[in-house]
Amino acid sequence: MGRSEEKCVVLEHRELGAGYRFLSMRAPAIAAAAVPGQFVHVRVPALEESALRRPFSIFNAEGDVLELLYKTVGRGTLAMNSLAAGDEVSVIGPLGHGFPLECKVAALLVGGGFGVAPLYFLARRLKAPSIELFVGGRTSADLLALDRFAALGVPVHAATNDGSAGVKGLVTDPLDDAMISIKEKGGSFELFACGPDPMLKAVALRATGSKSNGWISMDRHMVCGVGACYACIQKTVRGNSRCCIEGPVFAASDLVW
Ligand SMILES: Cc1cc2nc3c(=O)[nH]c(=O)nc-3n(C[C@H](O)[C@H](O)[C@H](O)COP(=O)(O)OP(=O)(O)OC[C@H]3O[C@@H](n4cnc5c(N)ncnc54)[C@H](O)[C@@H]3O)c2cc1C
Ligand code: FES
Repeated sequence: MGRSEEKCVVLEHRELGAGYRFLSMRAPAIAAAAVPGQFVHVRVPALEESALRRPFSIFNAEGDVLELLYKTVGRGTLAMNSLAAGDEVSVIGPLGHGFPLECKVAALLVGGGFGVAPLYFLARRLKAPSIELFVGGRTSADLLALDRFAALGVPVHAATNDGSAGVKGLVTDPLDDAMISIKEKGGSFELFACGPDPMLKAVALRATGSKSNGWISMDRHMVCGVGACYACIQKTVRGNSRCCIEGPVFAASDLVW
């Protein structure tokens, strides 16, 4: 099943605090075709023709329902705040290249802020002997959807800059402890990450440095979302790649920082 443009009906839209929001829509075609790590291009209400859509990771797709988590950062996401249950929204998706769905070793998922969005869908679909989540943010309000991960039985290791939840520090602190512990026991792991660029670089370098597979979801500014405009270029060992087509998920070993 490929991508489609679907008129989706808003089912639920609520504030999660600290500028984050949860949006669920009825989207039967997109939900049926979606794979973790893919994204959708949402038409924002009340924007001019040239700036209509914004990309968001698929937080969850289940039955007919598509769920997103987003942070209000500018005029597009601010305009989305006005969406109410029953409103119709044009959504194109699923788009892009997602995460692998089979992992034969321990799967360590690493997210920051809204970067946990694709990791929840991944945690639901990934076949792996074990799955753990490492999540970081400036403060406890940046740690999203932990109840959803807990309901899946996924152990969560949190870190915040101000120490208001989990350990005080960076998400790479508990991640490093886990990587060392697995290696000391003779085990192996793969890393799956989505979040801010410095975090992604830190995780990608840990993957390559430990000769482990790493799968990194890159967040680049997008315009067309379908490969035509080259606004979303990411440097890779094979040259320039488009995040919206070849990504957003790349092998850590392919990325050039
Ligand atoms: C593949 C992909 C998946 C994404 N998934 C999510 C998600 O699940 N939840 C979510 O909240 N956001 C996600 N984003 C980011 C989201 O698309 C942007 O935050 C949004 O487009 C900003 O639109 P705006 O008009 O509100 O902000 P603008 O007015 O365009 O910009 C406001 C501020 O946000 C910054 N900004 C703009 N685009 C991005 C971006 N792509 N990433 C980071 N900062 C940006 C700008 O530099 C500026 O400082 C994703 C982006 C990509 C490429
Ligand atoms: S957003 Fe246009 S090519 Fe990727």
